[in-house]
Amino acid sequence: MIVTTKTLFEAAYGKYAIGAYNINNLEQVMGLFRGNVESQAPFIIQLSKGARTYTHKKMLEALIKTADEIFPEAIFAVHLDHGDEETCYDCINSGFYSSVMIDASHEDFEGNIATTRRVVEAAHAKGLVVEAELGQLGGVEEHVAVSEDRAHLTDPAQAREFVERSGCDSLAVAIGTSHGAFKFSGSQSLRFDVLSEIQKVLPGFPLVMHGSSSVPQEEVERINAAGGKLAGAKGVDADQFLRASQLGVTKINIDTDGRLVWTRVHREFFMQHPEQFDFRPVGKVFIAEYAKFIAAKNVKLGSAGQLEAIRAMLAKK
Ligand code: G3H
Ligand code: 13P
Ligand code: ZN
Repeated sequence: MIVTTKTLFEAAYGKYAIGAYNINNLEQVMGLFRGNVESQAPFIIQLSKGARTYTHKKMLEALIKTADEIFPEAIFAVHLDHGDEETCYDCINSGFYSSVMIDASHEDFEGNIATTRRVVEAAHAKGLVVEAELGQLGGVEEHVAVSEDRAHLTDPAQAREFVERSGCDSLAVAIGTSHGAFKFSGSQSLRFDVLSEIQKVLPGFPLVMHGSSSVPQEEVERINAAGGKLAGAKGVDADQFLRASQLGVTKINIDTDGRLVWTRVHREFFMQHPEQFDFRPVGKVFIAEYAKFIAAKNVKLGSAGQLEAIRAMLAKK
């Protein structure tokens, strides 16, 4: 069942975080639904601009609608990840999305507010909610590559004014994470001090943590042992998710870890079965491994086992 992102945030705020997983293809969709139903977790499916053009935006919509029929127990929201203004309007008008992210974080403060405000007005008129971003993460994003020296943390002193003037419904904050597989090159870690300051000025307001893949070392080692070259990859400690959720982080974005599962499964499979050329045996292994990965991640997020409570909350509405 597709629900609004807002409903999921109301249920989770201050207690646990909802996993927001990027998907691009059929196998990911199957594994994602299976893993969430098995772990009884609500979740957010997010589609980037790149995902929408990889095959076709209609293809992803059809896959998600069909998965909704195959897994009637699933409760989830559909979200545009890192949208530019044009893509936000396309999603708002499609009638399919629960929420959009307008990422105008590369603009200056006033520009970011103005762009976000326009998207918020269009979205609210159609019953969608909007995630905006203040501060800038390092790494590669949809339409912007941000070098480490240009990345900057969210300024708690600006957060309240930004939310009030832009009208956004949730805020992506830069608190030390970055996109991709190579985070924390030096001795950085999550800036709980900054997060706590932001929560003080925005009590009860849902915050979003991007760049939250854990980049498990075992996964990286297996990929490298099977011919990969991912030297120095490092991520966020998943044991910190619950602490972040208690400080207002209600949505945690994970994409890279899923790509690592895909890469490990395919590299190992074809190394171990050099005679194979059928994509279905390896596809089946990936679906099972991705489902296992999602279920384990939901335990770390605290969202595992929350489906019944959400169902009860929806029944009361
Ligand atoms: O933050 C970006 C997400 O990981 C989506 O990546 O734009 O390559 O689909 P993508
Ligand atoms: P990772 O690259 O850490 O998975 O972050 C994904 C993300 O923030 C998607 O918006
Ligand atoms: Zn992101």
